[in-house]
Amino acid sequence: MNDLIIAPSILAADLACLGEEVDHVLRAGADWVHFDVMDNHYVPNLSFGPVVCQALRRYGIDATIDVHLMVKPVDRIIPDFAAAGADLISFHPEATEHLDRSLQLIRDQGCQTGLVFNPATPLDCLRYVLDKVDLILLMSVNPGFGGQKFLPDTLDKLREARAMIDAAERPIRLEVDGGVGPDNIEAVVAAGADTVVAGSAIFGQPDYAAVLTDMRERAAQ
Ligand code: DX5
Ligand code: ZN
Repeated sequence: MNDLIIAPSILAADLACLGEEVDHVLRAGADWVHFDVMDNHYVPNLSFGPVVCQALRRYGIDATIDVHLMVKPVDRIIPDFAAAGADLISFHPEATEHLDRSLQLIRDQGCQTGLVFNPATPLDCLRYVLDKVDLILLMSVNPGFGGQKFLPDTLDKLREARAMIDAAERPIRLEVDGGVGPDNIEAVVAAGADTVVAGSAIFGQPDYAAVLTDMRERAAQ
């Protein structure tokens, strides 16, 4: 399996000083920046768009920016995020009319692709597009808000996705997002996740390095 990637969700950061927060969490040992984009249409909340992604790049952030689109439609905003410095762009299959076309659009823009599955969305469509996907993201909460409780049924779904990835024999990452922290990282990694999003569990603590170390140690158990 791939090495563990921890991707703090900046939704939980102090947005009044976002550049410093992201710099701080990366120096504390985080790997990627998880960038939650909400449009008050696909999900009932509003966050930030490409200008904020571009601002992080201008600030000097050079880590992988993992953009999680919770917007509908997706195609119009994909080139803007690519131009703003996104490395990886993920979207929900329900949010596009043409799944294959949206994946191809992301690749054409030079970014890696991700597909996101809500807790009640089956993985069925994956088998038709597995060769065009670099990351599978399983939501372990209903999307729209940080700080929610992890839904334990996600563990079975992680095992199902892990089996599909292993059978595909491609280096697809398996990410989990929502309510993940030191208390359940061991379980999600054991179920097959190799990429973990955590918002409030990291930014809600004063010592980011201590949480990240704790999470890595528990994941390795
Ligand atoms: C939810 C977002 C998550 C969320 C994670 O819609 O996609 O990335 O912010 O936050 P925590 O870790 O606090 O659940
Ligand atoms: Zn997210």
